[in-house]
Amino acid sequence: MSQLAVEEIWKSFGGFHALGGVTLSVASGERRAIIGVNGAGKSTFFSIIGGQLRPTSGRVLLDGEQVTGLPPHKMWARGVTRTFQRNAIFPGLDVRQNVRLAILARRRMGSRILAGAGRHSHIDDEADAILGRLELCGRANVAACDLAYGEHRQLEIAIALAGEPRILLLDEPTAGMSPAETQAMVAMLAQLPRTLTLLIVEHDMDVVFAIADSVSVLHQGRVLVEGSPSEVQADPRVAEVYFGQVEAPQ
Ligand SMILES: Nc1ncnc2c1ncn2[C@@H]1O[C@H](COP(=O)(O)OP(=O)(O)O)[C@@H](O)[C@H]1O
Ligand SMILES: [Mg+2]
Repeated sequence: MSQLAVEEIWKSFGGFHALGGVTLSVASGERRAIIGVNGAGKSTFFSIIGGQLRPTSGRVLLDGEQVTGLPPHKMWARGVTRTFQRNAIFPGLDVRQNVRLAILARRRMGSRILAGAGRHSHIDDEADAILGRLELCGRANVAACDLAYGEHRQLEIAIALAGEPRILLLDEPTAGMSPAETQAMVAMLAQLPRTLTLLIVEHDMDVVFAIADSVSVLHQGRVLVEGSPSEVQADPRVAEVYFGQVEAPQ
């Protein structure tokens, strides 16, 4: 059974069909890239899985159980986390404190921190382990608002990981990053444990090749092609979609 199955998802905004019958399934531990031109429906699709949007019709199944239309906190509690939740970052707190809070939220210990309860050194150790994975250890004591752009995006992922998701949805995690920041992000994502299922919207095919096992191409709200990164890259239907949308190479 697929860990995540999406069946015939439609999402309409007024009369416009942003998604027109998306069907897709993802196995546990898989790393699936979702690609497609701007407006293809990628973010809308992620919002439906993350619970930020309810589909007009269709079903979302987690381990075979219907979870269609559950709100984000309920999806999060089932292990589905979508990053872009900038509001999950407290700008005035330092990096380690932000990650600690996310760990405490997962453990439902938030009320104990608010009550000023003790330091929980195991929580600090866990926070440091996550920061180490994201190469943010050297920035642990820096206020989130003072981070560079790439570091801020790394912290968003650190916070998501602190919630111990089973399925992580990353919508363009390298957008706006410098080549060095992109490289650091790719290295980090590539070494995430296979206990985590990753769905990633990504435009940069080098990033897709470095991370993904499989690729789904969304086009006009439907899955156009699915396959390995090299199969998808070689598919003439994919080339056709991207021609006319992007400048021909010089
Ligand atoms: N809240 C909304 N209201 C109306 N139209 C929307 C809304 N969200 C997305 N759309 C439209 O749906 C289409 C798909 O958008 P989106 O999922 O953001 O695409 P992508 O992430 O692939 O660029 C676009 O044409 C977009 O303008
Ligand atoms: Mg988008």
